[in-house]
Amino acid sequence: MRNLLIAGGAGFIGSNFVRFMLEKYPDYHVIVYDKLTYAGNLQNLLEVDDDPRFAFVKGDICEPQAVEQAIKEHRIDTIVNFAAETHVDRSIMDPDAFIQTDVYGTYVLLEAARRLGLERYHQVSTDEVYGHVPGEHRSLESDPVAPRSPYAASKTGGDLMAVAYHVTYGVPATITRGANNVGPYQYPEKVLPVFVTNALDNLPLPVYGDGKQRRDYQYVLDHCEALDLVLHRGQAGEIYNVGTGGEMENLAMIEILLDELGKPRSLIQHVTDRPGHDRRYCLNVDKIKTLGWEPRHTHEQAIRATVRWYVANEWWWRPIKVGERYKQYYEANYAQRQVLAGT
Ligand code: NAD
Ligand code: DAU
Repeated sequence: MRNLLIAGGAGFIGSNFVRFMLEKYPDYHVIVYDKLTYAGNLQNLLEVDDDPRFAFVKGDICEPQAVEQAIKEHRIDTIVNFAAETHVDRSIMDPDAFIQTDVYGTYVLLEAARRLGLERYHQVSTDEVYGHVPGEHRSLESDPVAPRSPYAASKTGGDLMAVAYHVTYGVPATITRGANNVGPYQYPEKVLPVFVTNALDNLPLPVYGDGKQRRDYQYVLDHCEALDLVLHRGQAGEIYNVGTGGEMENLAMIEILLDELGKPRSLIQHVTDRPGHDRRYCLNVDKIKTLGWEPRHTHEQAIRATVRWYVANEWWWRPIKVGERYKQYYEANYAQRQVLAGT
């Protein structure tokens, strides 16, 4: 493994992974293949831009010829697929691009890995494929999938295709299912960056429903370490959950965020819930731990470090938030939600 194609490497987790891999492996070459949707941003990669081991190719994973050309031109031996439409609220408003990229695009990459005989294909997936997890249960990799949003369903399609390509054609595919990531360069539509940047401007934090949904907020670099480990020590055909294994209510996350900023709880505004909102995700992470991985950050450390990054990096998020495209999204997602009294 020396020449990696990082599909979706201009997004949040992908760009953190690119930096991580270039720093850790002096003899690796990293090619980012990314369509640059609203969520892709070359500023996420400024720190590696002039590294001779790094190259950027603008391209769509739904285009087989362009994918094949990039693989051949850069002598790629490994694909890591981060490329996806990733925001649940957008998938509820308009699922089409999710099915295109997350299902068909994954197939295109798997087909290229099969035809060109690549060493490894890795699919970056999500705990959302398990759906809402009731009681005290922690999802196991062997649990049935039960996605409930168009986003989760499209990611599940990608996972199933990766498994099928391994079983049917022997493609050396691995899958990780990650919990919610937080950290630098997350587009300000996901809860933590939207709330930090709103709070900095003394704007309301629109909490969906009662805010008692439970998530496992993990630090993005812990996730990157797990991905690296699975690439080097994971078994082809296997699925690995990645998260702290813990859980916290959204309201608890918000309290830490407000505390770090020194902002009042009065900024919290309960609004109409997300349709089909999964109440709880929680992962059993014993399997990835057998590879020698441990998360380095607690929920609180991950949240506080992320808040500090947004405070220090207004140059990155402010232009996004004042842009017309972002304003249209914000209006479409939030304007029709009612403010809930007495929650
Ligand atoms: P993101 O939305 O920040 O970035 C997605 C990237 O994919 C962008 O750079 C975008 O331009 C690119 N892209 C989209 N469609 C493309 C296409 N058709 N062809 C090429 N590039 C395309 O996403 P993220 O939060 O960094 O998530 C990365 C991956 O990790 C996704 O597969 C997501 O499902 C998964 N994941 C995310 C989280 C999380 O909390 N963010 C948790 C678990 C798993
Ligand atoms: O669990 C992994 C998933 O985490 C990834 O697969 C997805 O790509 C990623 O977007 C994320 O999905 P979520 O739906 O959990 O993330 P989001 O940041 O959108 O929401 C987190 C929680 O916060 C969720 O319970 C909904 C709530 N929320 C979100 C927003 C944007 C609010 O209460 N208000 C908001 O404005």
